[in-house]
Amino acid sequence: MAAMSLRRNRDNRHIRELTREVRLHVEQFIQPLFAVEGLREREAVPGLVDVYRDTSETLLQQIEADLAQGISKFLLFGVPARKQDRDFSHAATSDIIATVRRRFGSDIWLAVDVCLCSHTTHGHCGILNDNRDHVLNDASVSALADAALQFAQAGADCVAPSDMQDGRVAAIRSALDQAGLERRAIMSYAAKFDSAFYGPFRLAAESAPGRDLPLRDRASYQIDPARPGDALLCAERDAAEGADILIVKPGLPYLDVLALLSARIHKPWAVYQTSGEQAGIDLLAEHGLTNPVRAQLESWTAFSRAGASMIISYAARRARRYLAA
Ligand code: PBG
Ligand code: ZN
Repeated sequence: MAAMSLRRNRDNRHIRELTREVRLHVEQFIQPLFAVEGLREREAVPGLVDVYRDTSETLLQQIEADLAQGISKFLLFGVPARKQDRDFSHAATSDIIATVRRRFGSDIWLAVDVCLCSHTTHGHCGILNDNRDHVLNDASVSALADAALQFAQAGADCVAPSDMQDGRVAAIRSALDQAGLERRAIMSYAAKFDSAFYGPFRLAAESAPGRDLPLRDRASYQIDPARPGDALLCAERDAAEGADILIVKPGLPYLDVLALLSARIHKPWAVYQTSGEQAGIDLLAEHGLTNPVRAQLESWTAFSRAGASMIISYAARRARRYLAA
């Protein structure tokens, strides 16, 4: 027997290209965007390369630039100027959605994140009880459904609830259907974990929880990292309630969950490579400790291998450049 057997198919670039089992393409990427009400100039997000808190004007320029890089799918986070704990106003984000839709029409697919943590004074993803030690489920769900409806009416193709309350997918689906918006999709953050990899995002979205509160973290509504079974229950529930796309988030620490859930539930799966994960790569690269192209492609390949058909990535706008490198 020849000493060399499995190495023949790794021998040169051509055979490596031919034998690949998963492939990345710029088509499968979704770029997150932040639109901050009342901001005068756009600001860089700490730890991330080429990611900004945009004004309504710079947002349009950013989308233009992203389209030129082959990116046409977006996940928008609206950050309101005024913080409130009830009676939320979604006017600013709805205006931006309408402006983006008028400007780009069907050249882009626009998903809009639905949550309350950028609105609230306390940074939690819902409405608190009077003791301020518990997020009220049903009151939060009705506020979320109201937000989702306004975003869809303003022109969002898809709404993406990231709050992790029970029953919000069903409530949103029914609000959209009653308003005649049955073609608008729901992308649910189904398997969203209580993670330490959300840091830069919370600065960008002004959504860090627990300022002056007994409830310091999101453990009472986001999934415990030690409970993949809970993620499966959430995903089955959200699929049954009418979610069109399911998300696993974060990505790299939860590849096992993505592989398990995507094998079990035959829905389109997205993975969210979170801000903390992205900063991990970008900061390593900044210190000369990794090659950013290779690290990025390796992580995206892992998502594809584990069953994600789409990738939400802060580096989506670099994908075409990286894939061609
Ligand atoms: C909040 C929300 C978070 C992200 C999206 N929506 C973080 C959190 O739960 O605090 C994570 C995004 C990221 O880190 O990139 N509803
Ligand atoms: Zn939230």
